[in-house]
Amino acid sequence: MENTHKLLIIVGSVREGRFGPVVGSWVAEQARQHGGFDVDVIDLADIDIPLVLPAAPPKYAGDSYPRPARMAALTSALEEADAFIVVTPEYNHSYPASLKAAIDWHFTQWTAKPVAFVSYGGAAGGRHAVLHLENVLTELHAVTIRDGLAFPNYFTAWEDGRPLDPAAPGYAKTLLDQLAWWAGALRSAREAAPYPA
Ligand SMILES: Cc1cc2nc3c(=O)[nH]c(=O)nc-3n(C[C@H](O)[C@H](O)[C@H](O)COP(=O)(O)O)c2cc1C
Repeated sequence: MENTHKLLIIVGSVREGRFGPVVGSWVAEQARQHGGFDVDVIDLADIDIPLVLPAAPPKYAGDSYPRPARMAALTSALEEADAFIVVTPEYNHSYPASLKAAIDWHFTQWTAKPVAFVSYGGAAGGRHAVLHLENVLTELHAVTIRDGLAFPNYFTAWEDGRPLDPAAPGYAKTLLDQLAWWAGALRSAREAAPYPA
């Protein structure tokens, strides 16, 4: 579809008994209802992401970076996306190692593309995780979106797969509006001229 942007929602936690897929499903529903996106969801629990990296960093290797074949679905989903939403919990005031591994195996796939965040956790609602992700993704030339969605004490704030706060869909729409704006602006810019990374 011409006027839609390819959105990849990344479910970042892979822990046994995790809550991440519940949040990911709700975010995907909001994104589909928004209408501005062609929505894809990738769950990092479905991808085998080794911690041992090749000798050279992916920044300079481009397509020849030697990734395991079992990572191909993740790499092509990142490559094809015009925009990302990272769904992350907070582990020890940061984001899970599964997300860091997925990020570190890639570089150009993030460049000059917008990333928004939906987080959840205890009192801070995963905001420490998002602060760290903003810092890391800026290094990969991604553009992070200011308006995120954070769910503090998610264990009392969700019921039957959706947040109890009636304002949550409105906050999601604001996030998605901003993400769509940036996705269009950055796609036009990437098409007009190669990004000077
Ligand atoms: C290793 C670990 C560390 C955690 N550290 C924090 C933390 O620093 N702040 C917080 O709000 N919640 C923390 N939590 C609680 C998580 O936010 C909560 O367990 C959440 O469900 C994790 O997401 P998941 O179920 O998708 O894995 C931690 C959980 C784990 C497993």
